[in-house]
Amino acid sequence: MLHYSIAVIPGDGIGPEVMDEGLKVLKAIEESHGGIRFANDVMDWNCNYYLTHGRMMPENGLDTLKDYDLILLGAVGAPEVPDHVSVWELILPIRRAFQQYVNLRPVKLLKGLESPLRYKEHADLDFVVVRENTEGEYSNMGGRMHQGTPYEMAVQNNVFTRYGTERILKYAYSLAEKKPKKRLTAATKSNGINHSMPFWDEIVKEISQEHPDVHTTLYHIDALAAYFITRPETFDVVVASNLFGDILTDLGAAIVGGLGLAPSANINPERKYPSMFEPIHGSAPDIAGKGSANPIAQIWSLSMMMDHLDLPEISGVIMNAIEQVLVDGKVLTPDLGGKATTRELGDEIVRQIYEAT
Ligand code: NAI
Ligand code: MG
Repeated sequence: MLHYSIAVIPGDGIGPEVMDEGLKVLKAIEESHGGIRFANDVMDWNCNYYLTHGRMMPENGLDTLKDYDLILLGAVGAPEVPDHVSVWELILPIRRAFQQYVNLRPVKLLKGLESPLRYKEHADLDFVVVRENTEGEYSNMGGRMHQGTPYEMAVQNNVFTRYGTERILKYAYSLAEKKPKKRLTAATKSNGINHSMPFWDEIVKEISQEHPDVHTTLYHIDALAAYFITRPETFDVVVASNLFGDILTDLGAAIVGGLGLAPSANINPERKYPSMFEPIHGSAPDIAGKGSANPIAQIWSLSMMMDHLDLPEISGVIMNAIEQVLVDGKVLTPDLGGKATTRELGDEIVRQIYEAT
């Protein structure tokens, strides 16, 4: 019997709504596969917790999480709490303390969906973005001075370490090696950012020499963003710094159907610490409480979790169930043009999982 402990953080807004459906899927996997058990502990760490306790998670929160095999996150963020508090005090500490330096985000057009890119087919939209997840532009180095005066100023420093840059590129190359086309595209901006980005480019060139069978291309981020639209079929593995990867993946989500369909994995490849799986989207206060959020991004993140656990068969069962529901096209949430609720769509995916096993 395989046994995994999961720390579940539903979060705020639509986070708990989509998480409910994710947990139903885990239960369906347990019941239909026999040999696997998930022990889930739900943590109430979110903006409400912050408003009561003055912090997003308890002081020993990271210590508590450390002992789990996996972390499952919904989304955090509420209008009453500044975003830099909710994100910086919950998500970023987890990503950093647990060295989840790989943020993996597939850009794949699922069966049954159409891309807003008129001339692109399913085979054209199937690649993965590897985003650096612990440093780069999202550093807390810098500060503010002279607040409230005409001389007010803010400085925010980018941090690119050799260690951090090498390890994300090595991971991206190892992924590209396993792809049939073996293509790696690195995002840069060395024409405008003249210290950190040339450094990044140099390390890309160094690591590329260790992988002569992988075809490497460096593109400036602005051109690369345009190529996501005009020639997405040329990508296999795209590797990017923290900020560039963040922006590219919202764009990636948009070309394959929207944020409701975009999952991500925060991975500690050495498996020394738990990895974390979550949808890309946030807490969507505009639709929270209406029961209309699309749970597919959350459920797809579970499929990524199964891949991480080396359970490709179960990962496939989840993806097939999602695609079957999309192909049937009868039970869809409003973002997909349907009228179904979050729960109805989740139930339909669960039904497909039972049907397949
Ligand atoms: P958002 O992703 O929450 O929403 C953007 C738009 O996409 C909204 O119109 C929303 O209704 C729609 N949308 C998002 N997920 C959807 C789903 N599953 N089904 C259907 N429609 C969906 O981004 P926004 O509005 O910029 O941020 C809202 C809050 O979420 C903020 O507090 C922000 O800081 C937080 N946030 C948290 C993240 C996380 O927990 N990892 C990531 C991004 C934002
Ligand atoms: Mg983002």
